[in-house]
Amino acid sequence: MRVRLIQFQRLERRRPGGWQCDFGRPDPIDCGVGQGLRQAGILGIAGSLRRGSYNQAALCAAKSLVPENSEIDLFPLDGIPLFNEDDEKRPPSSVVELKKRIRSANSVLIVTTEYNCSIPGVLKNAIDWASRPHGDSAWFGKSAAIMGASPGAIGTARAQQHLRQIFVALNLLLLNTPEVVIADAAHRFNEDGKLIHEPTKELIRELLKNLVDFTRRISSAPA
Ligand SMILES: Cc1cc2nc3c(=O)[nH]c(=O)nc-3n(C[C@H](O)[C@H](O)[C@H](O)COP(=O)(O)O)c2cc1C
Repeated sequence: MRVRLIQFQRLERRRPGGWQCDFGRPDPIDCGVGQGLRQAGILGIAGSLRRGSYNQAALCAAKSLVPENSEIDLFPLDGIPLFNEDDEKRPPSSVVELKKRIRSANSVLIVTTEYNCSIPGVLKNAIDWASRPHGDSAWFGKSAAIMGASPGAIGTARAQQHLRQIFVALNLLLLNTPEVVIADAAHRFNEDGKLIHEPTKELIRELLKNLVDFTRRISSAPA
């Protein structure tokens, strides 16, 4: 118990806003928040700002489940202000950075929380910013995969359906399978936010492999 408390204090010190992907391993995973893509790869965005978020934890887990030669870089949504159309032609620097990072990634992985049977406002807000101004959407034609975690039995299935609908409107090219719906999250992650459910890890591994294959296929498809 004492060890656990010490780990939490260390996590808090490193990033008050959430998991650092340092789950007490001797060789901690560096989530790479804000470091930019080292290899062209996947940009990961989690739709929760909550300290101890299951969705941030799922995204951290995904970082260690990517296929060889791929990488997930993270973009935390903490610094994105509320969207105001008055400002869309001169967006805040956090939004400029978000759009830049989406554009330079080969694909995106969105890990959504479910709030009131839909996606959380913080995620929709970021999606809206990056889609504007009209004609300058960073999402257009980008390949994408989605997943999500919740403590309940439905595991964000309804939020993911709404996200799919939004992505059609944005012309994001969405991977269809597998559906990664992480229900009963309290038992699939441990107290340190580490994903401990092997079948879920396998599913995320498959999702990421499919995303990388899909992205390669669509970018090398003959005209
Ligand atoms: C405003 C609000 C609405 C919620 N609605 C749902 C819901 O519709 N479906 C669901 O499975 N969980 C719902 N929850 C519970 C969230 O799934 C749970 O808080 C989850 O841990 C949030 O994701 P996070 O861990 O990534 O922060 C809701 C929570 C809040 C605060």
